Amino acid sequence: MKILHCKEYGPVDNLVWEEIDIQEPQDNEVQIEIKAAALNFPDFLIVQGLYQFKPELPFAPGNEGAGTVTKIGKNVTKFKEGDRVYFMAPYGAFAEKINISEFSVFPIPEDITFQLAASYQMAYGTSYHALVQRGALSGDDEVLILGASGGVGLAALDIAKAKGARVVVGVSTEEKAQICQNYGADDVVIYGSGPKDKEEAKAFSAELKAKSAKGGYDIIYDPIGDCYAEPAFRAIGWKGKYLVVGFAAGQIPKLPINLTLLKGASVVGVFWGAFTGREFEENQKNISDINEMLGKGQIKPLISKEIPMENAVEAIKLIGSRGVVGKVVLVN
Ligand SMILES: NC(=O)c1ccc[n+]([C@@H]2O[C@H](COP(=O)([O-])OP(=O)(O)OC[C@H]3O[C@@H](n4cnc5c(N)ncnc54)[C@H](OP(=O)(O)O)[C@@H]3O)[C@@H](O)[C@H]2O)c1
Repeated sequence: MKILHCKEYGPVDNLVWEEIDIQEPQDNEVQIEIKAAALNFPDFLIVQGLYQFKPELPFAPGNEGAGTVTKIGKNVTKFKEGDRVYFMAPYGAFAEKINISEFSVFPIPEDITFQLAASYQMAYGTSYHALVQRGALSGDDEVLILGASGGVGLAALDIAKAKGARVVVGVSTEEKAQICQNYGADDVVIYGSGPKDKEEAKAFSAELKAKSAKGGYDIIYDPIGDCYAEPAFRAIGWKGKYLVVGFAAGQIPKLPINLTLLKGASVVGVFWGAFTGREFEENQKNISDINEMLGKGQIKPLISKEIPMENAVEAIKLIGSRGVVGKVVLVN
């Protein structure tokens, strides 16, 4: 079977497709024929050696997908051949097949396609955990979301609106603003794409503050960091929570710590991957709630593009160049 391999850290073009023999599944594993896999920003970082951790080389990128169970190990109890499932994997979702522990595999809810099942687990899982557990979101809150048309950003917007919050979004272009408005954003700030000098940062912060109905946000959801973070933090409200989700814009920002004092505000870290392992039961509840909201039509994950799996390298380059809205799904 074919699998995408990273054999050396460096440009995305260094990735190579290889033909390998897949082993029989271990006793507690299922073998899945992958029909769809989702692209996530960490895919772009990890193959360059720029992610929080560096896997030992060679490794196979790709963390979430969906497909059909084709074989089961002898101790597997939850699944049988032919089941439609989605999975979260440490590695190897950009491939034709995968062997994976049955505890990382979940049945696909009725009426949900492989593409949709593959697309929303990480984005909605991250944003749900961020807003609900880390942000203690309530329907009275006002939320600012940066990078709001991207994978986790749009999921955060979708969830925050479903939970009744007022949401202001920040995006780089008019086109991305339109997508967020279609998802119910109450107001939009277009921040452009270049670095910001002192005056521009001040004006950006003032614009964010002006768009808040409360004069400052209860929750700020930040997956981009860099030059956007400090101006956004300056627009936080009294006792606001600043959710540190990621640094897609490049640099990890530094904040003057006195800003937290002035607003009685908190900087709150979000690490969904660690949460799923450390708080397994809580994550299961999140998954149930997300699936229930999906079933009731309260949330609607956006798949903006389906790309053949063999073009995974081009897709990974696209996400690194600000070229993705919602989710891109790779299909076999
Ligand atoms: N903490 C966690 O548990 C967790 C989980 C999943 C993902 N993440 C992190 O969250 C971030 C977003 O992930 P994602 O999968 O949602 O990515 P994505 O779909 O590519 O969205 C990222 C957004 O960041 C903005 N951006 C600003 N500067 C950018 C740049 N130089 N290059 C690319 N995008 C830029 C873009 O919006 P504009 O053009 O509108 O600015 C884009 O929509 C990543 O840093 C990822 O590692 C964290």
